[in-house]
Amino acid sequence: MKIIIKGNIVNPISRLKTEYFANQALVIENGKIIEICNLQDCEKKYYAFEILNFTDKYILPGFIDLHLHIPQVNQRARYGENLMDWLKKYILKAENDFEKLEKAEKSIKTCFNALIANGTTTAVMYNSYHKQATDLAFKIAEKSGLKVFIGKVMMDYFVSGEQFETTENSLRDSYDLYKKWHGKDNGRINYIFSPRFAPACSLELLTEIGRLAKKEGIYIQSHLSENREEIEQVLSKFFGFETYTDVYYKTGCLTDKSIMGHCIHLNDYEFNLLKETNCKIAHCPSSNFFLKSGVFDLSAAERKGIILGLGSDVGAGPSFSMFDVMKSMNYSQPFHILPQKSFYYATLGNAQALGIENTTGNFAAGKDADFIVIDIKKYYPEFEFSNIEDLLAYLIYLGHQGFVYAVYVRGQKIELLN
Ligand code: GUN
Ligand code: FE
Repeated sequence: MKIIIKGNIVNPISRLKTEYFANQALVIENGKIIEICNLQDCEKKYYAFEILNFTDKYILPGFIDLHLHIPQVNQRARYGENLMDWLKKYILKAENDFEKLEKAEKSIKTCFNALIANGTTTAVMYNSYHKQATDLAFKIAEKSGLKVFIGKVMMDYFVSGEQFETTENSLRDSYDLYKKWHGKDNGRINYIFSPRFAPACSLELLTEIGRLAKKEGIYIQSHLSENREEIEQVLSKFFGFETYTDVYYKTGCLTDKSIMGHCIHLNDYEFNLLKETNCKIAHCPSSNFFLKSGVFDLSAAERKGIILGLGSDVGAGPSFSMFDVMKSMNYSQPFHILPQKSFYYATLGNAQALGIENTTGNFAAGKDADFIVIDIKKYYPEFEFSNIEDLLAYLIYLGHQGFVYAVYVRGQKIELLN
């Protein structure tokens, strides 16, 4: 497969820099980027290549969503509660329903189609605690063409007294799914161990996950310090731990392949633990607004040099659009955020958080050709800009699902599932 993609190419390089190539071409062979080339040269140099013409449109790396929940796709906009009551009132019931595979299948497809429609080409996802429904999510992911990290949520204990699964089942089912799916299709399909959060896990469960992390280098995702009530529950439930972060740290769940969602109310000591272990943070600003969880201390995390990225946290975050998440990131902070920076976090930065920056996240030669075609003129025919910062600001503040004209992963067009 040899293709030349003509258009205006937008390439994130760092938190400070995004490159812009007006009216040039992305050259792709066997699903990988060969180079960004100017039009005159490339038609001569690559004469046998098929040409796809997106003149007047913008070619961006596909977005990466570092944190979302598949079974919550139809539980968005459940308004009026903070985290713990929201979970009890809406979320746990909806996740229970994934026991019924027909229902699960519909929701999984709805979720993946929303990702595709919004230009997200890599997504890190919690499923429900069911093994079968999670196996199904992997099968659908395999078919979809998306890059995914999926885990069945692990929750062997809930403060309300409910037990959704035993510790043994939780570990065994997760391990089976990990063995079956992790690394499939050349690393497109990945398993991520997903203990829900400390209030829903026994110490034994977390300790076993930590042990496995040491032995097999598994990916782990969880939630950390999102809400004050949650923190109080952790400190009263786990005896002998001084902070919430200590619970994950001492059980071995903080590693360079762990991603902790939120991390809003951390103190300096806890930030240091994340830095020391090279654990990553999934910052989910729209969710934090929605559940009134608080404001993430972005400056502190950046000052410490902690690697972080952006997640929608659907369903607490109402929108799958990473445009919307980038916008919320800026709105939630007391200072202005450079558009290049939010864009970096939603693309290359998230790839770095996942340790897949060698294959994913921008258009460096040799990487997978994961890109989206953006049409601004359809909505804003008079749109003009004078530099890359203005273009990115336009996308961040005015961008939405309707801008996404086409989606490609590894050079293949991704179509909606039916
Ligand atoms: N903490 C534990 N579970 C969840 C969840 O499903 N969503 C959010 N936002 N926080 C959580
Ligand atoms: Fe979440």
